Amino acid sequence: MCGIVAYIGKREAYPVLIKGLHRLEYRGYDSAGIALLHKKEMNIYKTKGKVADLEKFVAGNDTQGHMGIAHTRWATHGVPNAINAHPHCSGNNNLAIIHNGIIENYLLLKKALQKQGYTFKSDTDTEVLVQLIDYIKTNNNCSLFDAVQTALRKVVGAYAIAIVEKGNEGEIIAARKSSPLAIGMGKDNEEFFIASDVTPFAEYTNKVVYLKDEEVVRIRLGESPKIVNLDKTESEINVEHLNMSLSQLEKGGYPHFMLKEINEQPQTILDCIRGRINRPATDVKLSGVMDHMDKLLSARRFIIVACGTSWHAGLIGKHMIEEFCRVPVQVEYASEFRYCCPVVDEQDVVIAVSQSGETADTLAAVQLAKSKGAFVYGICNVVGSSIARNTDTGTYIHVGPEIGVASTKAFTGQVTVLTMFAMCIAKMKRTISKERYEKILKGLKSLPDLIKEVLQYGNKIKDLSAVFTYAHNFLYLGRGYNYPLALEGALKLKEISYIHAEGYPSAEMKHGPIALIDHEMPTFVIATSDSIYEKTVSNIQEIKARGGKVIALVTKGDKFVSSMADYILEMPYVDECLAPIVSCIPLQLFAYYIAVQKGRNVDQPRNLAKSVTVE
Ligand code: G6P
Repeated sequence: MCGIVAYIGKREAYPVLIKGLHRLEYRGYDSAGIALLHKKEMNIYKTKGKVADLEKFVAGNDTQGHMGIAHTRWATHGVPNAINAHPHCSGNNNLAIIHNGIIENYLLLKKALQKQGYTFKSDTDTEVLVQLIDYIKTNNNCSLFDAVQTALRKVVGAYAIAIVEKGNEGEIIAARKSSPLAIGMGKDNEEFFIASDVTPFAEYTNKVVYLKDEEVVRIRLGESPKIVNLDKTESEINVEHLNMSLSQLEKGGYPHFMLKEINEQPQTILDCIRGRINRPATDVKLSGVMDHMDKLLSARRFIIVACGTSWHAGLIGKHMIEEFCRVPVQVEYASEFRYCCPVVDEQDVVIAVSQSGETADTLAAVQLAKSKGAFVYGICNVVGSSIARNTDTGTYIHVGPEIGVASTKAFTGQVTVLTMFAMCIAKMKRTISKERYEKILKGLKSLPDLIKEVLQYGNKIKDLSAVFTYAHNFLYLGRGYNYPLALEGALKLKEISYIHAEGYPSAEMKHGPIALIDHEMPTFVIATSDSIYEKTVSNIQEIKARGGKVIALVTKGDKFVSSMADYILEMPYVDECLAPIVSCIPLQLFAYYIAVQKGRNVDQPRNLAKSVTVE
C-alpha cells in the first residue's frame, strides 16, 4: 500500500505530482505529502487526510520547482498524522524520501543510529531509512547513489523509494524490493516520472521501465537512467511500450469509479475473451496454456492462491476445474499458504490470482511454490506487475485499470479467464463432451449482452437498496457455483457500506446462522436455476418460517422462489458455471447503492487499500 510519485523535468512539478497522487490514492489515503526542490531549497508540505486535504493545506504557499517527490499513505508504523506522513527527512533536512513498504529491521537500525547521536521525529520505519542513508553518505563521503545502495544492503523488508537531496536539483535516486516501481521515460531524457504504477504518467509518456527487485536507479536529466542491483552489477534498461488511454483513468461522467467499473463489464469481458475464443465459439486458446500443455496436463493437482475477491474467483475456478478437468484443486488464502508449511512439489501447478499483481502475500506464495519446484501460472490484471513477472506463465485478464477499491470488473475477468483455462485443459484431457464445451464457449461469448441486460435493472436495484439501509447485519446464501458469489456479495457490502455481512453455503445456514434470523436480519439468496435449485428453495422456506426478509436472485420465469421471497431480481438464463459472472452484477450494484445512500466513500472505503503490498 502507499503510493509514491516523483517528477523531474521541464514542467512545474507540483501539478504533475498532485494529479499523480490522486491517481494513486486507491493505494492508501491516511495522509499525504510532497517535497518540491527549487533554487537550492526544499519545500515540504504534509498533512493528515487525503490528497484534497493536502491541496488545501498547500494553497497559497510556494509550489515552484521542476522536481519533487510525493506520497499518499496507508499507515503501518505510526498513527496517521502529519508527523508520520511522508516525505521524511534526514536530521539535517538535506535528504527527503518517500517509501512504500515496510523496513522490518527498522528498530535495530534505529537503535544503532541513536547510538551515533541520531534523533527521530516520527514513529516510522521510513525515517530510519533516510537517516541511515544520511549516516552512510556523511561518514563515507560518497554519492547519494552509493549511499542508497549501501543502506539497502543493510535493510530487511520491502521498499519502493525515491530520494532527493537539497541543492542537487538534477537527480533522483529510486529503488525497489517487493513493492512496485515504474519509471516513465520522457522524450530524449528531458523528463522522468517515477511511480508505484503507471497511472500518474500514462498521459505524458508511453515508455516505461519496470524496476526489478533489489535494483537501484539514478535518474539524471539529460542522461539515460543508470540501474544497478545491490551486488553492484549494472542492469540493461528494458523500455516497454505502455498501452493505456487517459479515459481509462478517469470517471467518464460516473459519480464513482466503482459504478463506472461495474458498467464497463460488458466491454471488459469482451476484451478478456477477444482473440481467445474463435468466431463460431467452437474453440478456446490461451497461449499460457498452449505453450505449457505438458506441465498442465500432467499436474497431480492445482493449488489456487489468492486474497480477497481474487480468492472468491479462485473458489469458482476450483469448482470448474474439478468438474470439467477432473483434477483435484485446493484454494488457499495466500497469507495462510505461505506460513502453513504446505505440501507442494514439482507435480503441482499453483495458480496465483491477483488483480494488482502486487499483493504481498500472493507474491510470497508464488515464490514459495516456485522454490518447492511447482509450476506457477499467474492470472493478473496489471501488465508487468510483480506476480506476472514472477510466475512461469499466465494469462492477463485485460479488464483495464481498476481504481475503485472494491473489486468488480476484475472479479468477472478472473472468473472468465479461469473458465477458459478449465475449458482448454478439459478439452485436451478429453474430460468434457464436445456439446458441453461448445455450449460453455457460446455462453462465454453471450456474457457481454447478458451483463448489459442485467445492468438495466440499475434503478430497480437502487430502489431495493433504499429499503435495506436500516440493516446492521446481512446474510448472503448460495450453493455450488453460487456459494463463492454469496461470499463476494457479502464482502462487497461490508467493504463499502460497513454493514456486517456474512456469506454462507445455503445448507450450512442450519448449522449456526439460522439462529440470527429475525425480521431485522435480511438474507440475500442466490437462487438461480441450477442442479441444486430445489434444495435452495427449501432453504428459503426455512428463512421465511422464521420471519426473515428475503431478497432472491432468480432465473427469469421462476415460480417457486418468486412466490416466497419478499423481493426478487430476475436474471437471464445462462449455464450454471457461468451464472456467477452475470449474477454478481446485481450484488455489486446493491452494495454500491446502499453505500451511496449511507453517504460512504465508495471508492475509498475506510481502512482499506486496493493494493495490499504489506503482509
Ligand atoms: C485488497 C482489495 C481487494 C482485492 C484484494 C486482493 O483487499 O481491496 O479488492 O480483492 O486486495 O488483491 P489482488 O490485487 O491480489 O487481487
